[in-house]
Amino acid sequence: MKFLVLLVCLAFPSFDAASLRRSKMTFIEEQMSMQMKLMMPEKATLNNIEASILNMARTKKQGGSGTNLTAFLDQIQELIDNTMKKNIVQRKDQTQFDLDGAWANLTTCTHPNDTTLVNTLAELDSEHVKCRSEQDAMWSDYDATCIVARQIFENERKALCDAYEQAKVFPTPATTCVMNENTPVPTIGHYLIDMEKYFSDAYDALLLKKQRCDIAMATPFPNEDLCGNKICQYYDKKIDCEKHQEAFEKPACEGHKTYTCSHFSDCYAEKKDIYDSVVTLAQENEVANKAEWRAVLRIECLLNALRVSDDELEAAIDACKAKTYATTPVELKYYGSAPAERSFTEVYYAPGSAVFSSSWYSGLSIATPAASCASSCCMAEEFSPAYPAGANCPYVPGAVSGAAATTTTTTTTAATTTTTTAAASVSRRARRRMR
Ligand SMILES: *[C@@H]1O[C@H](CO)[C@@H](O)[C@H](O)[C@H]1NC(C)=O
Ligand SMILES: *[C@@H]1O[C@H](CO)[C@@H](O)[C@H](O)[C@H]1NC(C)=O
Ligand SMILES: *[C@@H]1O[C@H](CO)[C@@H](O)[C@H](O)[C@H]1NC(C)=O
Repeated sequence: MKFLVLLVCLAFPSFDAASLRRSKMTFIEEQMSMQMKLMMPEKATLNNIEASILNMARTKKQGGSGTNLTAFLDQIQELIDNTMKKNIVQRKDQTQFDLDGAWANLTTCTHPNDTTLVNTLAELDSEHVKCRSEQDAMWSDYDATCIVARQIFENERKALCDAYEQAKVFPTPATTCVMNENTPVPTIGHYLIDMEKYFSDAYDALLLKKQRCDIAMATPFPNEDLCGNKICQYYDKKIDCEKHQEAFEKPACEGHKTYTCSHFSDCYAEKKDIYDSVVTLAQENEVANKAEWRAVLRIECLLNALRVSDDELEAAIDACKAKTYATTPVELKYYGSAPAERSFTEVYYAPGSAVFSSSWYSGLSIATPAASCASSCCMAEEFSPAYPAGANCPYVPGAVSGAAATTTTTTTTAATTTTTTAAASVSRRARRRMR
C-alpha cells in the first residue's frame, strides 16, 4: 500500500544525537541545517499522507469498500506515536541540548579575577620578599664587618706609612745646620754635640715611624677568614632568594600566558558567536518543528475521524481542519541575549617586563634587588642561580678568590686618595661591583 510506504519513509530520517555533541560552531551549524533539510521532505510527506487520508475518507463516504479499517488505522496510529512524534520530539530535544550547551558555555571562559592563582602568587611573592629582606640584613652585616672595617683598617695602615714616607726626607742643611747664636764656647765642640743630638733624635723618630709602618704592613686584616665565610653565606642566601624568585615567577609566567584579558576576550567572543548562531538556528528549527508537529496532530485527528460512523465523518473531518493544535511539546526554552562581556583589568603581567618588575619588586632594598628575570617568560634557558664567577665559595682559607681580589685591588687604588669621603665613595663602587 502506497500510504504505508510513505509512513515507513517518514520513520527513517531519525537523528544521530551523539554525533552532535561534538563542538565548534561550524559543526553545530552544519548539523542543525542538515536537520532542517531532513525536515523539508517530511513536511511534503506529511502533506501527501494527509491528502491520502482525505481520499480514503471520500471513498468511505461514497459507500466505501465496506472493509473494516480499524486494524489498519490502529497500525498507523502506532507509527505516529512510536516513530513520527518521537522523531520530532527527539529533534527538539537535541536543539534544546545545543541551546543549553551554548548558553552554559558562555560562562566557561576563565576571567583573570576568578583564578586562584592570584592568591598563590601573593603567597609566593611574600616568601620571596621575606627572603630578600633577610638577604639585605646579611649584606648590611657583611658591609659593616668586612667592607667598611677593611677600609678603615687600610686607611690607618696607609696613614702610618705616609707618616714614615713624609719623615724620610733629609732636612735642609741651610736651616738645620745653622749654629745657635748663644752656643757656649768652645762653639765648634758644642755645635757638634748639638748636631749629634739633633740627628740621633731625628733618626730615632724616623725609625719609630718605619717600625710602625712595617708592623702595620705585616699585620693582616683581622676579619679575613670571618669575611671569607660571611660572603659565602651571603651568596648562599642570595641563591636561595633567587630560587624563591623563580618559584614565584614560574606560575606568574603561566598566569600571563593563560589568563590575559585578550585571551578572555577572544574566548568570550567565540562563545558568544556560537551562542548567537545556535539561537538563530534554533528559532528556525522551532518554526519547522512546530509546523511538523501540527501536521502530525492533524493526521492523528483525521485518522480518528475515519473511525466514526459515515454520517458523522464529514463534520469530524471539518473539525480536524478547523482545530488549532498546541505545539507545547516542541517549544524551546530560550535564555535571551548573551550577557555583555565582563570587564577586566590585566592581572598577570609578563615576568621580565618593566610593569611586572615595578608592580612586584619595587619594594625591595636597592642593595638586594630581584634578578631581572627568573622564568621562561623572559629567558630561553633554565634559570640557574649560582655563585659569582671566581668566588671562593664554599670558603677555603688562603685560596685565591677572584671576587675578593677585585675588591682588594679597587680598595688599594682608592687608598691613594686620602680623604675618607673619596675612599668611601670608591668603596661603595667596589661594593656595587661585588653584588
Ligand atoms: C560547549 O563546550 C564544550 C567544551 O568545549 C563543547 O564540547 C560543546 O560542544 C560546546 N557546546 C556548544 C553547544 O557549543
Ligand atoms: C472491525 O474489526 C475489529 C477487530 O479487528 C473489531 O473489533 C470490530 O468490531 C470490527 N468492526 C466492524 C464494524 O466490523
Ligand atoms: C579584578 O580584580 C582587580 C584587582 O585584582 C580589580 O581591580 C578589578 O576591579 C576586578 N575586576 C572585576 C571585573 O572583577
